[in-house]
Amino acid sequence: MTNDPKLIAITSGKGGTGKSSISYGIGYTLAKQGNRTLIIELDFGLRCLDIMFGMEGTVKFDLGNVLKNNMQVLDAVSRVPGVSNLEILCAPKDPFMKVTAEQVVNICRGVRKYYDFIIIDTGAGISSHVFDIVEQANLILVVTTPDPICIRDATMMSDEFYQRGNKRQRLIINKVSEEVIKSKMIQNLDEIIDAVGIQLLGVIPDDMMLKEATGKGKKLPVEAPSLEAFDAISKRLTGEQVPLVIK
Ligand SMILES: Nc1ncnc2c1ncn2[C@@H]1O[C@H](COP(=O)(O)OP(=O)(O)O)[C@@H](O)[C@H]1O
Ligand SMILES: [Mg+2]
Repeated sequence: MTNDPKLIAITSGKGGTGKSSISYGIGYTLAKQGNRTLIIELDFGLRCLDIMFGMEGTVKFDLGNVLKNNMQVLDAVSRVPGVSNLEILCAPKDPFMKVTAEQVVNICRGVRKYYDFIIIDTGAGISSHVFDIVEQANLILVVTTPDPICIRDATMMSDEFYQRGNKRQRLIINKVSEEVIKSKMIQNLDEIIDAVGIQLLGVIPDDMMLKEATGKGKKLPVEAPSLEAFDAISKRLTGEQVPLVIK
């Protein structure tokens, strides 16, 4: 599993950093670029991918069916309408349902030949449960915002991965606005990268259009500032050399 470059876990120490929004954005742009992409949502009880993709009420099955009823993963995934190559496997609605790292590995192993990328949107939290699952990925994307508390949590998380011998980590700094950078409260991007200590994969602007699109289940408009950032990140994930987009 670990030699396979396509299983990507999106994680963060703190909640609300934008893991699900980034899973949505990277999933969408990877698919638009022609990669067969599956997003698996592991934030149990805090299911939101269906809303983000405008599929609330139309998602028939979810990860719960795979775990509880032994349903085949490919039968449980939902196709995102209007986007070729993109499928999602939503989190179960039951917040108390448990999934082990082994189950996640088995699910991914079973379907990886059908996808170019499998993105795992994890729950927040520095718990051994999250670590066990995230560690199975080939690439860990640690998400932080420029907020000092969030940076510290991301640093703790990244350090823990390092201590466990996991060096396949990249940083995404989300919700970056000009005001945030200018304000004295907030560290600049170089300081954030130094603090967390992992290589930067991308910077995503604070983008009301992204918030609105995911909140209403609408397509991300082409002029949305975050779209360019997601597009660049996705290209970088496929090995293309793309300059960092920082606006
Ligand atoms: N780049 C961004 N610009 C503006 N709002 C964002 C951005 N990323 C996330 N958000 C908003 O932040 C909130 C938390 O995002 P979400 O993706 O649910 O985080 P998480 O999955 O880490 O809990 C949501 O209201 C979302 O719309
Ligand atoms: Mg989430």
